[in-house]
Amino acid sequence: MSRFFSIFEGKNELSTCCQPTARNMKNLIRPIAILFLLNLILSGCYYDKESELYPQKPVCDTAGTMTYSQSIIPVVTANCNVCHSTAVASGGVITDNYNDLSVVANDGRLWAAVNWTGPVRMPQGLDKLSDCNLTKIKKWVDAGVPNN
Ligand code: HEC
Repeated sequence: MSRFFSIFEGKNELSTCCQPTARNMKNLIRPIAILFLLNLILSGCYYDKESELYPQKPVCDTAGTMTYSQSIIPVVTANCNVCHSTAVASGGVITDNYNDLSVVANDGRLWAAVNWTGPVRMPQGLDKLSDCNLTKIKKWVDAGVPNN
């Protein structure tokens, strides 16, 4: 008989376990808080990805001294070296090293070519360089074509 009652009591305990008592509500706060934080973290990641998809245009930096290594090499590498490498040397002009590039930079043909004021318009068959890149070349040539 006592066994019967203990089972009965146990059943009673079970049936009250999930009722919305104050203690059960308290136990819910933690998982809800965790879900809330996870949502914040995941939505943070979402916006990180968006800023990678739509990056800000790099700022054109033509302030201060232009250097051959930092200002000029990236421009000729992206726009000129494909036709004016040491191996190809279109028109006898080479832009992929300082010594050869300084020849056309010093005799004025570099600026005339990219500024479209000379006999040829460079880069050949393509759009004029950006104002930013033109400013870099102009400042570098005006500074005396330094190997810096
Ligand atoms: C698609 C190939 C091509 C690209 C890219 C190119 N060039 Fe040229 N470049 C030539 C050719 C070919 C000549 C020879 C002249 C001609 O046939 O028009 C030439 C000639 C020149 C000359 C000699 C001009 C003269 O007055 O004698 C200079 C300087 C020059 N390029 C600079 C550049 C610079 C700087 C760039 C990058 C901004 C560039 N080129 C990009 C093909 C190219």
